[in-house]
Amino acid sequence: MGLPIHPRVLALICCSIVVLATFALYYGKINGNNHADEQFNNLQPDSSRPVLGQAVLDQPIQPIFMDDRLDKNKVALGELLFHDPILSADNTVTCASCHNLAAGGSDNRVQSIGIKNRLGNINSPTVFNSSLNIAQFWDGRADTLEEQIDGPVHNEEELGTNWLQITAKLKNERHYTKLFNKIYSDGISENNIKDAIASFERSLLTVNSPFDKYLLGDTSAISENAIKGYDKFKEYGCIACHQGSNVGGNLYQPMGLMGNYFKERETEISSADLGRHNVTGLEEDKFVFRVPSLRLSTLTAPYFHDGSAKTLKDAVQVMIKYQLGRQAPEEDEDLIIEFLHTLVGEYKGRRLDQ
Ligand code: HEC
Ligand code: HEC
Repeated sequence: MGLPIHPRVLALICCSIVVLATFALYYGKINGNNHADEQFNNLQPDSSRPVLGQAVLDQPIQPIFMDDRLDKNKVALGELLFHDPILSADNTVTCASCHNLAAGGSDNRVQSIGIKNRLGNINSPTVFNSSLNIAQFWDGRADTLEEQIDGPVHNEEELGTNWLQITAKLKNERHYTKLFNKIYSDGISENNIKDAIASFERSLLTVNSPFDKYLLGDTSAISENAIKGYDKFKEYGCIACHQGSNVGGNLYQPMGLMGNYFKERETEISSADLGRHNVTGLEEDKFVFRVPSLRLSTLTAPYFHDGSAKTLKDAVQVMIKYQLGRQAPEEDEDLIIEFLHTLVGEYKGRRLDQ
């Protein structure tokens, strides 16, 4: 196809290969995961497409594997808390209100609605696979899932409460006292609540996607068009930013690398638009975001931190224009979307888009 790649994008691809390799090795290590070790012993540098029965794991995208070290009791307790309005100031909102697991782990709104119908200032990302990201939130301001939970708990547009209130309310519920005492020697506490919810979130992995099956050597797992779409995804340079097991989540990049997205958006710039700058204070971090995962992008419209793209096609077009400085025939956009569909995996044995 000989699609020319812009030098800035090419430079980014080179950088990202290094980052990806480091991330993959690190992930394999922290996961203590035999699959990962096997993968890296079986690297096949020349293969660009899987051969039947032969895993191709030197690809810039890696399969997701279940984390089987999780404590089942903590996961179950975290799941209960995640769906309990007791965590909100007026017992009306749950984590799941904005992260609906049946709808891809998001709320399909431009901005989320918290207690007292208050509107938030940014689009809600999926909670699925968030443990695979380098940090939490669009601007990466929380290093861990445990730390992330402080955000919605205190945010006046979300749960609008505090730990004193939450722990007091939970201690009034006999079944919670019992459940916590069974797992934690010090019973109900801020840390233990965070530990349980984070454990549950670590179980929110979408495994066995058709694309992962393809990567693991099942060449019939995805259609010929989806394979072409994956080729386009790489040729155009999407892969420079959306890569690794979460197809994103492991880099910080500016929105509008190749064009002034915010100027052309024609709505006022908000503090949320400043992205990573809000965390570091650095000028060069203005409009920089943690690259979002594309694992469930077919389910989590609308798109971007500002929810400005209504459909996946809109989002792909914006990316081609502002991140790659290119134009693409509609046919290529459709092929890429066909590929994105194959990234959706299973949770509790059910494919999330079925
Ligand atoms: C009122 C809606 C709302 C509620 C309630 C809510 N969230 Fe969120 N959540 C959001 C929004 C919006 C963001 C993005 C905020 C940002 O990046 O600045 C987010 C981000 C996250 C992220 C980071 C994901 C990523 O990819 O960076 C996680 C994890 C998360 N929420 C988990 C939770 C948990 C756990 C709870 C309950 C304790 C919760 N949320 C309650 C709306 C909500
Ligand atoms: C230079 C890095 C970069 C490149 C190249 C890139 N993206 Fe993105 N992508 C991002 C960032 C950063 C965001 C978040 C932007 C925002 O929210 O303002 C994003 C967001 C998205 C989203 C929305 C996800 C969501 O949940 O809101 C989609 C879909 C997407 N990209 C697809 C693509 C496709 C397809 C390509 C190739 C045509 C591509 N991207 C190329 C960095 C990149």
